[in-house]
This record gives sequence, C-alpha cells and structure tokens, in this order.
Amino acid sequence: MGKTFKRTTVTSALPYANGPVHIGHLAGVYVPADIYVRYLRLKGRDVIFIGGSDEHGVPVTIRARKEGITVQEVVDRYHNLIKQSFEDFGISFDVYSRTTSATHHKLASDFFRKLYDEGKFVEQVSEQFYDEQTGRFLTDRNIRGECPRCHAPEAYGDQCEKCGATLSPEELINPYNAETGNPLVKKATKHWYLPLDKDQEWLEKWILEDHKEWRSNVYGQCKSWLDGGLRPRAVTRDLDWGIPVPVEGAEGKVLYVWFDAPIGYISNTKELCDAHPELGSWETWWKDPETRLVHFIGKDNIVFHCIVFPAMLKAHGEYILPDNVPSNEFLNLEGNKISTSKNYAVWLNEYLVDMPGRQDELRYVLTANAPETKDNDFTWADYQARCNNELVAVYGNFVNRALQLTQKYYEGRVPACGELNDYDRETLAEFRDVKERLENLLENFRFRDAQKEAMNLARIGNKYIADCEPWKVIKTDPERVKTIINISLQLTANLAIAFEPFLPFSSKRLRTMLAMDSFSWEDLGSTSLMQEGHQLPKPELLFTKVEDEAIEAQVRKLEDTVKANAEADYKAEPVKPDIPFEDFEKLDIRVGLVKACEKVKKSKKLLKFTLDDGSGKDRTILSGIAQWYEPERLIGKRVLFVANLAPRQMMGETSCGMILSAVNYNGDLSVTTTLDEVKGGSQVG
Ligand code: 2FM
Ligand code: ZN
Repeated sequence: MGKTFKRTTVTSALPYANGPVHIGHLAGVYVPADIYVRYLRLKGRDVIFIGGSDEHGVPVTIRARKEGITVQEVVDRYHNLIKQSFEDFGISFDVYSRTTSATHHKLASDFFRKLYDEGKFVEQVSEQFYDEQTGRFLTDRNIRGECPRCHAPEAYGDQCEKCGATLSPEELINPYNAETGNPLVKKATKHWYLPLDKDQEWLEKWILEDHKEWRSNVYGQCKSWLDGGLRPRAVTRDLDWGIPVPVEGAEGKVLYVWFDAPIGYISNTKELCDAHPELGSWETWWKDPETRLVHFIGKDNIVFHCIVFPAMLKAHGEYILPDNVPSNEFLNLEGNKISTSKNYAVWLNEYLVDMPGRQDELRYVLTANAPETKDNDFTWADYQARCNNELVAVYGNFVNRALQLTQKYYEGRVPACGELNDYDRETLAEFRDVKERLENLLENFRFRDAQKEAMNLARIGNKYIADCEPWKVIKTDPERVKTIINISLQLTANLAIAFEPFLPFSSKRLRTMLAMDSFSWEDLGSTSLMQEGHQLPKPELLFTKVEDEAIEAQVRKLEDTVKANAEADYKAEPVKPDIPFEDFEKLDIRVGLVKACEKVKKSKKLLKFTLDDGSGKDRTILSGIAQWYEPERLIGKRVLFVANLAPRQMMGETSCGMILSAVNYNGDLSVTTTLDEVKGGSQVG
C-alpha cells in the first residue's frame, strides 16, 4: 500500500488441462486479469502477463482413463483448445506455456530440492489406502464407499454428494477403488510435508495486518484459515503422473500438483524472458523487491495463493511475495452451478461457433455482472438485454450517429469546433475527470464499476447528440452543427480509449473507423483528439442486435443438458416394504371417463376433473397436474383413480378421490389411462 513499484508481474490461475474453458473461468479470472494488464500497458507501465495450463494432478488422469486415451493425449488436446480459446477472446498473455514443459520440470524439481536440502520439510510415514491389484495408492477423490451418515452407497473419500457431509476416506464403510471397484487396504508410505504451523505467525502479520486492503472475500477466507490454526501439508503424492520427487528412494512419488502449479508461473516467466531478452532476466520479475506481484484467481484457489505458495516462496528465500491476490467468487449459470463434469457450462469454443464475432459482448456482460465480492448468476436473458440495451442502444448508437452524420454533412472530414455554448461546456466538463475516476477503480481492481464509468461516457455522448438534434439544427444553423459533430467525435475517440482494456475488439474497430493510428491512456479526457479536416473512412455498425432466436437456442441447449443429466442420474426409488394382500384390497381403484376438465381459478397447479365413475352421478376430483396438461387434452380419456380416498377440501372445492399419475425421472407427471375402452367405474386390480 502506497509503495511504488518499477514493474508488475501479473499471473492468472493455470487452468487444469482436463476440459475446455467456460464463462466461469473467463469471468472469474481471465477477463479481469486482462483488463488490468491492458490498462497497465496503455499507461506505459512495465508489465508481464503470465498464463499456462496446469497439466498435472488427478483430474487429468481421471479424464484419460474415462476417455481411454493416455494422459499426455488429454493434456495435449485441452492445452491447445484452452490456449486457442484465450487467444480468441483477446486474453493478451505474454506467454502461455504448460507445466509439462522441460523448463518447468527442472525449475519445480530444483525448488523442491533446495527446500529439501535445507531441511525445510518434515518427513512423515502414514497409512494410506492402497489397491493391491493395481499396485496404486489412491487419492481421496478416487476412493468411494458407503457414507457413514446417510448410507448412500457411493460417497467419495472427501465428500458425500447425497447428504453433503465432508468426509475423510477413513470414515467410509467398505472403501473401494472408484475406478476398478477393487477393495482397498492400508499401507505405509512416506511423504514430505511443508510445516505451515511454523509459518502461522508471520503469515498472520503479513496478511491480517499488512494487507488489510485485500478484497474482503480474500481477507476473510485467509483469516478463517489462520484462525483455525495452520497444519503441516503434504507436498508429495503417490502417483505416476507428475514431477518425480527428486530424492533417492522416492520412486513412484511425484510433487503434489499444488506444489508444482504455482511454480509454473515462475517457469513460464523464465520461458518468456529466455525468448525475449529485451525483458531482462526472469529473476528481476520474481526476486526484485521493486516488482509488484499480483495473482488473479478464483475463490477455490485462495488458500494456495495466499498461504501455501507464499510459505513456499518464503522458505526458498529469494522470492518476493504477492502484493495483491484479487480473487473473484463464483459465477453460476441460469441459477445452477457451472460443472465441467456434468457438461453444464457455456464453453468458450462453442460460444464462438454459435455467436461468431461476439467476443466483446461476452466480455462486457461478464464484467458488468462480475462476481467480484459475491457469487453471481449469468442468464441469457441478461446477456441479451445488456447487449441490446447498452452496447447497441447506447454505445453503438452514439458512435454510429456521430460517424454517419460526419459522412453525411462533411464527407467524412472532421468539422471545425466553433464557439461553445453552456451545454457543450457542461458536457465536456463531465468528461474531464473520467481518467482519474477510471484509474482509481482499475488500480483497486474494481473492474465492474470501472466499466460502468466507461459506459457512462457513452451515455453522456448519446444524450448530448440526442439533445442537440443536429439533424434538425442543420436546417437553421449549419455552423452550430459543426461544433456538435466535432464534440461528438472527440467523445467517440475518448470511448475508443476508455473501452480498450474492456472491449479490445470493438475498440480496435472503432479506432479504424476514426483512422486513429496511435493512442495512449494519457489522451483520455482530451477534447482535441480529432483534428479539423481529419478524414474518416466509411463507418460500420459497432454492435448488432442479439436476436431472440439465438438466445432461445442457448437456453434450450442448457435445458437439454439438465435433462440428459437427470436421465443419466435417474435411479428408481427403492421398492417399499411388502404389505399383506388384505392391505392392497383396501384400495378401491377404478376407471373414470373424463366428461369435463378445467383449470381451477387462482391455482397454477390444479385441474378439476368431472368423471363418469359408473355411479350415475358425476364425481369431482382435483389433481395437481395443470403444469403438464391443457385440460382439453384430457377430456374423453379413461383415467385411473382411487375411489375410496376420504373427500378433501381444496381451494374451496371438495375433491373425491385421487387421479393416478406416473412420476417421470425428472419429476414430470403423466396421467395413467387404460389401453382399451372399458366402461367408467370398472374396477382396477
Ligand atoms: O483450480 C485450478 O484450476 C488449478 N489448476 C489452478 C492452479 S493455479 C496455479 F497455482 F497454477
Ligand atoms: Zn451421506
């Protein structure tokens, strides 16, 4: 805080190369990081932006076994796909490498070895679950068994998905290997631990006292870890995929993925600097106290970046510590959790096929709705509204008017600015401190508010041109119109700069339309960016409307995924305990011919049936199936109903019986009918 730095190293979490990236990744980490870096570059600051794929750990090995391919094939496939998606969305990394690179294996291995040689680890032998048939130790996630709480048969070693209990593998009843089904035994194994308990004191001071400016969600999570007391953490694993532990007698063991992944930031910096000598030594970016280190991450990564990695860096001794760790919370999708394993997401590669050229639209919506301090929800309706009502109707509309009128009245040449009236001066005054406001917000990682400020400029412009009505004034005072258009073009040029960190694609298009060859952040707020006589090319629309059909298709796609998941997950309820035949005989089930059926007023759920039940008198039954049937569809059908259920009052009506329906896997109801035309009142049994 308050300290000035010479340069900034910005890192963004290395995504696991076990699947494509989705909007949650973009909103949580990569768009905010990219906005920040683009802003620093525009300001002419020294900055590097480090990215890469996290290619070790259990998730990639699970994917490989599921798909029946090698782990290397998995990481190759997804590393390339993820890298391409980031490029497509303009995430402007200076380097995007991978943790399987030779540089990284050496650097991470040397890092571990230095700590090992200096006695910074604690060695400990413990009993772990082992599959004798495959000869493998298992990680918590790969162990399943009966839940000790709710007795669900397939709880994971770390959590029961049925009752939500947090578990340890020891608690599971009859644990087995999740992939092979083999039973497990306990076997002794040696591991190296980082004794975090010894770091408790300095971490408390460094975070809780010296970094009170960190976002409240980050600070709060750190505080609760620290309050709970830090414990030693194993930094090695029994696995055959990863960086081998560089110690004799450690065959079959690798570095824990969370030990090697953050070192990946350093390795990737080294690769970058080796290829670009003009950046200087990689060490300057990681060891010089005048370098500011900033990690952009998602909330599930907070403990690793604020506690574990700093403890590693400190133990090593040569490195700087992060100055800030702006972490976002989670983005949900249409009210549900985004899930890679359930395929419930908007995948970036698919988005670009469905919405070609609309990168900035997604960047805009994700920032406008960024989960900066609490979880947020992405909905397609909100996406459409923001695109059409803000990007098209405000920003695009203003720019289009200014540029079209310049073409129409002045053949595309910037007209001279004449004498200003009070309204012009007021409008320009609103622009003058925009730079300071934006900087303040961006320096404090408040990207959502910063983008709002940029959009506010467009609102001011839009209002100015609408209020001045140059298309009317041209008939009475053509000189005045020159000033209006000149001011509008100055505002347009400002927008191209202000939006550059947020919406780089449309900003570039706009600069082309303004024939703006060079620009800098320092120009922001200037009202003399467009010189008189400057020739502009023919403009195009900056944004186009997002149509209903495109949105409906996206919503349908998600609904289909939810349906497919529910169908795949469906397991019939267990059959209820046996009952004696006499109990069954107590039920009087009959066929009823539906004479009339209508909606019950003031009820969304109920339909009122009038049945011919063979008695000669009409029978009324109310049934909660309005959501699934138009009443007309049921008239004339033969339905099954329980005839001797005691009458019940519902919504002011008496219901005599119950219509029988089947409950589908997804909760939908389907009324039961007879195959043949039997008479009303026939018994069922
Ligand atoms: O949560 C994740 O996707 C991790 N792969 C992030 C790693 S960040 C860093 F340490 F590399
Ligand atoms: Zn349970």
